Order: sequence, then structure tokens, then C-alpha cells
Amino acid sequence: MSIDLPEKLSQETARAGFPATRLRRLRQHPRLREMVRESTLAVDDLILPLFVRTGRGVRQPISSMPGHAQMSVDLLASEVCEIEGLGIPAVILFGIPEHKDAIGSASWDDDGVVQQAIRAIKDASKHELLVIIDLCFCEYTDHGHCGPVSERTGRVDVDNDATLENLARQALSLARSGADMIAPSGMMDGMVAAIRSALDAEGFEHLPIMSYAAKYSSAFYGPFRQAAESAPQFGDRRSYQMDPANSDEALREVELDLREGADIIMVKPAMAYGDIIRRVKDRFGVPVAAYNVSGEFAMVKAAADRGWIDEQRITLEILTGIKRAGADMILTYFAKDVARWLQTA
Ligand code: PBG
Repeated sequence: MSIDLPEKLSQETARAGFPATRLRRLRQHPRLREMVRESTLAVDDLILPLFVRTGRGVRQPISSMPGHAQMSVDLLASEVCEIEGLGIPAVILFGIPEHKDAIGSASWDDDGVVQQAIRAIKDASKHELLVIIDLCFCEYTDHGHCGPVSERTGRVDVDNDATLENLARQALSLARSGADMIAPSGMMDGMVAAIRSALDAEGFEHLPIMSYAAKYSSAFYGPFRQAAESAPQFGDRRSYQMDPANSDEALREVELDLREGADIIMVKPAMAYGDIIRRVKDRFGVPVAAYNVSGEFAMVKAAADRGWIDEQRITLEILTGIKRAGADMILTYFAKDVARWLQTA
């Protein structure tokens, strides 16, 4: 019989109790505090979201997301220089196309805004910046839903299987343009399988998929929808994104996505969903990404602007909490701020 030493030790410690045990001993010396720290936040955990649009020399600030702007493709070279200078390893791109239609066809145009952006970033990058692309249709459809809508189910709703065909088209166009990872965010059933098989059939079997597997129907996406011009023009996303009250269902979503070939699992939003991050990590032990979303960012910025909170301490605490919950990486609009703070820390 093997002896599980750490567990045995911890039982003995627990038995010993006070005064033999004083947990404050390890909190006295600052260096010792650092040595027993269980979670760390590092710049290489961070993925910075960028909003790209058509035009030249356009930098359109997003009012509810201070410091963030929609940027035209020609501005990306200097942006990449700054991002790499800060040591941020990855970006995720969202495109705002010139024309929207009922099916979001601009999303699979090989000369579309995101496709151009991928090429511009690849040209400008000196440190192999990882380029992740959010794969969805809400920025590309005139009705703002995450796929073509139909009345097949008796109500106007996103047509799941028609969306899958278009997702495969979009994924292939992004792969051909040089994307390093595809991140489907539409919460369609079977989306990972559809994308995986399309990529494999065209020789992109090496391209990883980061699936927004447990994505909740959340009010925290408000500022993003302004930023990406992607608010639904009628109804909401509750027929495809998850009910915030559910947790077991998240595990079923994750299990299916893993079976379909997802390489990284995303939980979104992050702050109110630490329990989901932890359950996914404990159950599956796969790489987990958490999305610290636009509303979470905006709340901190607004309160800090009023002098009600300490922005730096609050942000580092939130992001460390997301790491502690079990996330390996965090998509966050704070990426540049954090990189600067960690440099001077
Ligand atoms: C696209 C998508 C959304 C976000 C990421 N990808 C918006 C939505 O689902 O409505 C939100 C990100 C954020 O709020 O920061 N489907």
C-alpha cells in the first residue's frame, strides 16, 4: 500500500492545532509570503482582445471601455509593436465589417477585415504574437444574432445546423489567412465538430480550437456589443447561450466540446463564474481559458474613475482570483495595464 505523504502530513497538522500550529507564521516575512503563494498572475497568461474595422487611419474610441478603440487595419503594425514590447503573448480579434447581411457572409470573405488584420499582424510581428480569432456571426449579421435565423422551430431563432455550415466556411477562410487558433463563440450544438472536420479536410489538422464551451447569456457583455456593433436587433441570446443559473450543464457542454476536438476550454464571463472554472478544471484537467469580459472591465474603470476603488489592486486581485479558480489563461481588456504594473512591481 502506498502512503500518501502530503495528505498524512496535513492530517497531522490539522490534529496538532493551536498553539503548535500558527498559520500566521508564514505571513510575516514578505519573501516567505511570496514563496508560499499558491497562484500567480503573469503577463504570459494574458490574451488581449482587439477590435478591427475597415478604413484608413481610423481609431474610434469605445466610450464604455476606456483605453480601447476600434482600429483600422493600417494601425495594427504600431499596435503589435506596443503589445510585443509589453510582453503580451496573444491577441484575439473581433472584426467590424463594412457590410452586414442576413447570414454574415462578410465573415468568410478571404479579403474581409479580420483576414486582412491577421496578415497585417503577421507581417508586423517580431516575436510570433499568437493570433486567435473569435469565430462568430453577430458582428456580421444585420440582425445581430450569432447565425442565420429561421422559423423552423416555430419561433424566430438562430438555425443551428445552417450556422454550422457557415462556421466551417469562416474557419477555413481564417485558417488560410494565417490564424494561429480558432475560437468559436456562438454556442451552437456541434460547432467544434463542424469546424474540426472542415479544418482537417483542408490540411489544417494542426490548428488548435479554443472553444467558448461554457458561455453564459450575460448582461456583462453590454459594452462589448457597443464596441463590436453586435447587439441583437430583436430578442436576446438565451436560446443559445447558457442560463447563468446552471453549472452541471456547463460540464455537459465542456464534455461534448472535448469529444468534438476542442483543445482549450473557455468559461465566460469570469468573475461571477469562478465555480464553473474550478469544476471544469477539476473534472477534466484540460487547459482552461477565462474571459474577463467587457462589463467586468467597465465596472472597475468606472468605479476607479470616481476614486471609489484602487484600480490596480482591484484588477490584480480579480485576475489572481480567476487564476486561483483554475484558469490557465485570461482574456482581458486589462492586459496592457497589467503588463505595465507587473513590469514596475
Ligand atoms: C460574440 C462574442 C461576444 C463576446 C465575445 N464574443 C458577445 C456576445 O456574445 O454577445 C463578449 C465579450 C465581452 O463582453 O467582452 N458572440
